[in-house]
Amino acid sequence: QMLKVFVTRRIPQEGMKILQKAGMCNLSVWDSDEPVPRAELLKGVAGAHGLLCLLSDKVDAEVLDAAGPNLKVISTLSVGFDHLAIDEIKKRGIRVGYTPDVLTDATAELTVALLLATARRLPEGVEEVKNGGWSTWKPLWLCGYGLSGSTVGVIGLGRIGLAIARRLKPFGVKRLLYTGRQPKPQAQEVDGEYVPLDTLVRESDFVVVSCSLTPDTQGLCDKTFFSKMKKTSIFINTSRGAVVNQEDLFEALSSGQIAAAGLDVTTPEPLPTNHPLLTLNNCVVLPHIGSATYSTRGVMSELTANNLLAGLTGSEMPSELKL
Ligand code: GLV
Ligand code: GLV
Repeated sequence: QMLKVFVTRRIPQEGMKILQKAGMCNLSVWDSDEPVPRAELLKGVAGAHGLLCLLSDKVDAEVLDAAGPNLKVISTLSVGFDHLAIDEIKKRGIRVGYTPDVLTDATAELTVALLLATARRLPEGVEEVKNGGWSTWKPLWLCGYGLSGSTVGVIGLGRIGLAIARRLKPFGVKRLLYTGRQPKPQAQEVDGEYVPLDTLVRESDFVVVSCSLTPDTQGLCDKTFFSKMKKTSIFINTSRGAVVNQEDLFEALSSGQIAAAGLDVTTPEPLPTNHPLLTLNNCVVLPHIGSATYSTRGVMSELTANNLLAGLTGSEMPSELKL
């Protein structure tokens, strides 16, 4: 008997091939680069045994009810799972697959790129070259902040946070601070100092957010948070936009309370092109591309497909989210 699977987007072919080859799925794909409209999601998921989704799909009780009792597995093409209503999913006995580890290097790399681009003002420089603002070599022009001798604070030293710290240390970082629910033995590798959030925010030259979005971290970076940062410090977020109160960030950036910010994630996504943050020279915004390398996205799609198949057949998933 063929099992019904709904795939909410066009995904890399590596993953699609695995699903097709398995020969047990009746695949229905929202074959587009754009998100599936809500009504189509509710229709597409009806009677499905498996759902392959993205971080842009909100999977809540309404979707689960629309799917009905067949639904055994939800496999998301992401490491983040804040778009999934975990309590509702658990209540229904549905298993969840996700993609940790395989995107750690790509995301850490992008974080370093964004940090350097923001600190050394690369987008402004590129723009000046194009618009004729580059008149000569100027001693006081386009100066920014370097990592050498700096203090870096990582909020959330998980898989990705640790990979960021490992990459930043060789730039000559003097102190590496981190926060989280508890100290991590792995922090020794980067000479990480476990400190209270308040200390991290006050003492860091670079504050890097790498925690997951939970009720505890929602809106964590607000007016009070930014008011403790040094005027010369830089804020970087590659986790989830909702960790930040963007109005407070705008205020901190435009008033000179902090030096600059680099964001790979925003609320909403996409950020409207007329958003106030986009009027600021000291704010670098990227379109959520942390894991976007060809190979990483290929491997993510394979893992997502294999998680889905394991969920359908009731076997062990390569990466199952413990609910
Ligand atoms: C990206 O943000 C992911 O959660 O994989
Ligand atoms: C910079 O190009 C320098 O030579 O100092």
